Amino acid sequence: MVELSEDFKLQYEALDSDHQKLVEMVNEISGMLDEGCAEDCKAKVVEFINFTKAHFAREEQLLTKSGYPNVENHSRHHKALDKKMDHLLEFASMVTVNELACDSLKKELVFFVMDDVISSDLDFKSFLENIPS
Ligand SMILES: [Fe+2]
Ligand SMILES: [Fe+2]
Repeated sequence: MVELSEDFKLQYEALDSDHQKLVEMVNEISGMLDEGCAEDCKAKVVEFINFTKAHFAREEQLLTKSGYPNVENHSRHHKALDKKMDHLLEFASMVTVNELACDSLKKELVFFVMDDVISSDLDFKSFLENIPS
């Protein structure tokens, strides 16, 4: 189980609630894999990736609108995650036939959501503190 602890919160509701939802989806997928429901997990991973992309778009829009100076860097960071998302989908396609893919998917999802998606947003936490949420 992963958890969105206080240290990882931006204290900006619209983004924190998206991050919370992403963490919950990762926990749900992990739970499905632990219970042996691998067949249903691919659709859930697709849903997770679609939600992630929609979140990136919302976040970039908010940063642009608020005048965050490094928005282009952050957008590039989001874009660079496309490949990782493709890998997650590949693992998800293999979970029914390969036990290792199952473990890899669980681990990669946690790294992805915590390191690539949520931690990297802490770069603009102090910027957000000065704009109304
Ligand atoms: Fe984010
Ligand atoms: Fe981000």
